[in-house]
Amino acid sequence: MHVTTLTASDADRYRELMLHAYESAADAFTSTAEERAAQPKAWWEKRIADTSGMSVAMGAFQARELVGTVAVEFSSKPKTRHKAHVIGMFVHERVRGLGAGAALLRAALLEARARDHVRVVTLTVTQGNEPAIRLYESAGFQTFGVEPLAISTPGGFKSKVHMWLELPRGGAAA
Ligand SMILES: CC(C)(COP(=O)(O)OP(=O)(O)OC[C@H]1O[C@@H](n2cnc3c(N)ncnc32)[C@H](O)[C@@H]1OP(=O)(O)O)[C@@H](O)C(=O)NCCC(=O)NCCS
Repeated sequence: MHVTTLTASDADRYRELMLHAYESAADAFTSTAEERAAQPKAWWEKRIADTSGMSVAMGAFQARELVGTVAVEFSSKPKTRHKAHVIGMFVHERVRGLGAGAALLRAALLEARARDHVRVVTLTVTQGNEPAIRLYESAGFQTFGVEPLAISTPGGFKSKVHMWLELPRGGAAA
């Protein structure tokens, strides 16, 4: 398995994997497969390889098949460009527990660290999603709050755990 940055040419396979993700791990995501299936190809291309660099995605490949992914969103606003947001983490059921999630998260954090102005990485995770929470904690993320009634699911409302990671940087705060 190897992890690499996705390009616009990966949009179709990324779409296919994520539409599966929204179905198979529905409670982990805020969007539904139906909503996302309606998005045009340009939306998927922008998600994984935004031409202005504000959204990038990593892919985990096994024998040329995309089996895992995570995306990072950046901000161009002067007051929030120090923050990056990790979204859309998914590893196919077939290859879980083999280190793909950890490798994807490492790659996402490298991408954030490569931008000198980024100081903080945030994410949200559905309360009770222990595999994901442990994955994020093992990378150093800490919980700073819980949003009650954050998403409506067939099993009732679920809360979202908000986590953050401060990136180690030398020098004074920007
Ligand atoms: C969460 C998810 C991405 C983990 O991917 P993965 O490739 O199986 O994870 P890894 O094999 O890299 O495991 C990395 C760490 O995650 C944690 N972890 C992974 N699976 C776990 C499980 N079933 N139970 C507890 N901890 C688990 C562990 O800390 C693990 O480190 P360790 O192996 O040293 O104990 C995967 O389970 C998944 O796609 N889940 C459905 C979608 C989802 O929940 N996405 C997160 C949205 S916020």
